[in-house]
Amino acid sequence: MAALTRLGLHSPVILAPMAGGISTPALVAAVSEAGGLGSLGAAYLTPQQISAEIAAVRGLTQRPFAVNLFAPHATPQVTPEQIAAAEAELAPLHAALNLAPPKLPAQVQEDFAAQFEVVLQAAPAVFSFAFGRLERGSLEALKARGILTIGTATSLTEAQLLQSDGVDAVVLQGSAAGGHRGGWQRDDLAGTLDLVRAAHQSLSLPIIAAGGLMTAEAVRAALAAGADLVQCGTAFLRAAEAGTSAPYRAALAAAQAGQTTLTRSFSGRLARGLANTVTQELRRPLPYPYQNALTRPLRSAAAANHRAEFLSLWAGENFWQGREASAAELLAELSGGREKA
Ligand SMILES: Cc1cc2nc3c(=O)[nH]c(=O)nc-3n(C[C@H](O)[C@H](O)[C@H](O)COP(=O)(O)O)c2cc1C
Repeated sequence: MAALTRLGLHSPVILAPMAGGISTPALVAAVSEAGGLGSLGAAYLTPQQISAEIAAVRGLTQRPFAVNLFAPHATPQVTPEQIAAAEAELAPLHAALNLAPPKLPAQVQEDFAAQFEVVLQAAPAVFSFAFGRLERGSLEALKARGILTIGTATSLTEAQLLQSDGVDAVVLQGSAAGGHRGGWQRDDLAGTLDLVRAAHQSLSLPIIAAGGLMTAEAVRAALAAGADLVQCGTAFLRAAEAGTSAPYRAALAAAQAGQTTLTRSFSGRLARGLANTVTQELRRPLPYPYQNALTRPLRSAAAANHRAEFLSLWAGENFWQGREASAAELLAELSGGREKA
């Protein structure tokens, strides 16, 4: 915990990085200003946008914050037949929004090396990452600049690998978590508290619990199970400062408990969100990052046209416990009035 203590947090709560414009600079800064650790989800941003968003956070707070990227991974091979099948499945949904037929773009993801370089130069207090491990050289470069590193694991095995790599802390993401599964190996969808207890027994580095933590009681239970800090995403989706679109907010307010599902339909990678037309109709997604690039025009048009049935509505299982409020109010509620040393 010694490494994290130097952040001087007053709350045990980390705002989860939420790529796709949810964790705006205003939200990140509001959480950090209120004593938590804000995280900028920068995975889908260009290097120029990352630089601008970090500057925007710094214009709003001098407190520490994290920047988050997806660890680099080999892109799988896809055949023209697979692409044609995925495009054909998506075509009726495009037609429903009067969009041109779907077409896989040439560039399917941002260049990690260029994104990483910008983060390194900007030197935020913390760099967090999901979907894999970092190369030794990248970890060394971060350490040389005094940037703390947080990896993401969905199993004890992954957490142990991250520990052996030398990260400063690890997020243990349980099955209730909203958004993408953050690991890279076999994922048994273990419960958050079970993962934390197992990690507390066998890891020596600080543990951050994530997945389904929406109340002060849940945060307290995670800390009691051995977590040093917690990371909450869904609890902040309806924060005033969040970039969550109006139809996304309305869908969260209207849905009932039990309506989340694990799906590959939007991105090709397993993620938890509210079930809708896309999760039901797209049965032959391309692997990540291809499907993510393929469905982007649909998602953008759906947000602009208030069509939640075509939007990725990432949400953790306990989304129904969320509410609209300022980030500072939500943070205070989750922290339960307790200060974290
Ligand atoms: C809308 C949304 C976007 C997310 N994007 C990211 C991301 O960019 N990087 C990341 O490491 N985790 C991301 N996550 C996962 C969170 O880090 C975290 O594991 C999860 O929110 C915890 O579960 P909860 O949503 O029940 O609080 C995202 C989660 C949500 C809900």
